[in-house]
Amino acid sequence: MRDKSRADLVNRRRFLSAASLAGAGIAMTRGASATDTTKPDPLITEVQDWQRYLGDGVDKRPYGSPSKFEKNVIRRDVSWLTASAESSVNFTPLHELDGIITPSGLCFERHHGGVAEIDPAKHRLMINGLVEKPLVFTMDDIKRMPRTNRIYFLECAANSGMEWRGAQLNGCQFTHGMVHNVMYTGVPLKVVLDEAGLRPNAKWLMLEGGDASGMNRSLPVEKGLSDVLLAFAMNGEALRPEQGYPLRAVIPGWEGNLWVKWLRRIEVGDQPWQTREETSKYTDLLADGRSRKHTFIMDAKSVVTSPSPQAPLKYKGRNVLSGFAWSGRGTIQRVDVSLDGGRNWQTARIDGPVLDKSLTRFYVDFDWNGEELMVQSRAIDSTGYVQPTKDELRKVRGVNSIYHNNGIQTWLVHRNGDSENVELG
Ligand code: MTE
Ligand code: CO
Repeated sequence: MRDKSRADLVNRRRFLSAASLAGAGIAMTRGASATDTTKPDPLITEVQDWQRYLGDGVDKRPYGSPSKFEKNVIRRDVSWLTASAESSVNFTPLHELDGIITPSGLCFERHHGGVAEIDPAKHRLMINGLVEKPLVFTMDDIKRMPRTNRIYFLECAANSGMEWRGAQLNGCQFTHGMVHNVMYTGVPLKVVLDEAGLRPNAKWLMLEGGDASGMNRSLPVEKGLSDVLLAFAMNGEALRPEQGYPLRAVIPGWEGNLWVKWLRRIEVGDQPWQTREETSKYTDLLADGRSRKHTFIMDAKSVVTSPSPQAPLKYKGRNVLSGFAWSGRGTIQRVDVSLDGGRNWQTARIDGPVLDKSLTRFYVDFDWNGEELMVQSRAIDSTGYVQPTKDELRKVRGVNSIYHNNGIQTWLVHRNGDSENVELG
């Protein structure tokens, strides 16, 4: 057995000699990224421990988790941002992700009163107010109604909120990581509202959470009747406690604050409730002292996740630039990328599904000759809306805002491959 595997390895080494690579047409040209095969590599020529010994059996990992070599791929918080960890936020490690789906355990968390741990058998959803028939549902009741599966991004309105007055946080995890993108399974809210029967003067819904903060927000009835879901699953399994187990509202394309977690009550009314979250918070203070209110939709936005401060360029020659684009108004139609601070733009290669109100993945395959770069991306959505520069945004919105900062991000890539968050003056 052993002898055989050694013989195999020797054969493999012979096959991988530089001469045979050239013979096979896999020439080592400029920009190619394969390792130099002219020097013997013990990782090829020697039998390794993980080949020598048996691995864990199927009884050792009843619920799987990532490789121990991926232990840096975690949500991170910024301790000085908030006074307590219970009313706080941590950030999705966007620079470590690929494709469009955010793994459940890496979805950023935003709580106003910590994570409620709710026994689904004791959870109820109540519909009251301007309805013909007030109703109370158990989780089992909800799971017996027609359900649907949809992939949507959730972005906190405060994503990039620290960047209004200039470049602040060094890493796309911190500047853009209040976004995640998962597949939800849930019941259309319309099904539940139809069952309760809306009265003719029903104009607004108030969604209320069952956590210690009892967070609540007003939502126009038209949105509630269009694409809102009462979700009980994400990425094929029950919601995580952090994401509102056992039930959360999914409000596609609209600011994350409306996506009430641990959803326990929906009241139907004829006007908005003017809750804390829509008066003192989640309004956008303009330069002239007036405030924008009910700014629900998340406009088109994008960010290059690699290279970025947490994802340095390590090699000259062949490299992959990558990032995400999204829009609360529809699909992503095009993403432009600049390597010189917006002087020249090229169209990025979009790969993977392009879905309505979902993160979309883009790439630029490029050769890096070790020069300084100023990397930017610009999203264009299906309505023709073009992501603005930060200066264009400030002209309209001033610098007092926290919310809805969708300006173009710049990473300055130094000659050593490290990058930093900068703004072009
Ligand atoms: N719902 C309740 N009940 N309590 C909360 O603190 N936070 C809101 C929203 N729903 C919150 C809530 C905010 S501000 C955002 S951005 C999203 O949930 C965050 O969702 P996530 O934790 O799944 O990322
Ligand atoms: Co939020």
